[in-house]
Amino acid sequence: MSDYQALTRALSCIKSALGEKRDFKPRVALILGSGLGDFADNIDVVAKVEYSQIDGFPVSTVPGHKGRYIFGYINNVPLVCMQGRVHYYEGYSMQQVVMPVRLMGMLGAEILLITNAAGGINRDFYPGALMLIRGHISCFVPSPLIGPNIDRLGTRFPDMTNVYDSRLASIIESAAQRRGVELEKGVYVQLGGPNFETPEEIKMLELLGADAVGMSSACEAIAARHMGMRVAGISCISNLAAGITGEPLTHQEVIDAASEAAPKFTGLLIESISKM
Ligand code: HPA
Repeated sequence: MSDYQALTRALSCIKSALGEKRDFKPRVALILGSGLGDFADNIDVVAKVEYSQIDGFPVSTVPGHKGRYIFGYINNVPLVCMQGRVHYYEGYSMQQVVMPVRLMGMLGAEILLITNAAGGINRDFYPGALMLIRGHISCFVPSPLIGPNIDRLGTRFPDMTNVYDSRLASIIESAAQRRGVELEKGVYVQLGGPNFETPEEIKMLELLGADAVGMSSACEAIAARHMGMRVAGISCISNLAAGITGEPLTHQEVIDAASEAAPKFTGLLIESISKM
């Protein structure tokens, strides 16, 4: 089966799980990162579809990541939200990792809003800070577009000059101002994980101009741009990157810091989505 056939098969599973809501067309696709799972409590829910109901769907194995799409409204903006994402380090191919994003695009979402937890490389950052992603470095992991091009989704050699949409960025910056939320801006670098980086790698990434490091997101942004979606991303800085404080890093501290920042993050997301 081709990747496109797998996508259309998964899409029809979603449609049948949606039942009489099958014509619901999301405008915004939202990926909830670590610690943000409870964001879904703010959605006027129309339907939920478990990933396990979808043929060929990569099911997340990370603790703290649930596995379902939630369809509904935030202040009348129709959206689909991923409660739980799939990571490359789980052993899936990059094509599988971006399948959930592609499906949200095929459901009609024009905007992809990515969130994640990330390690802060920029010395001005602190645990709990929020960073608007203004660019990314993805070349440490394979492109999700490797393999036969899915011409129905996009072109073979898509431009990546403006991955992060400036109009969406302005909406998010204004929302942060209105809510009095401090918002950093910076470059996100995706590494494969699952091990955290060494202090030497963090030094290298700093030299390359990265402000935050994580194990997701850039591949999702590429897949979304390939199919013409407009993209925005916000990182929650859950910890300072390896070697900065000298303390060892743990997944638990990532979850705890992201959960602590969740109310501020949630407020910013609701305010932003309402204007999209
Ligand atoms: N490195 C990579 N990924 C991460 C980190 C980190 O320090 N924190 C949260 N996700």
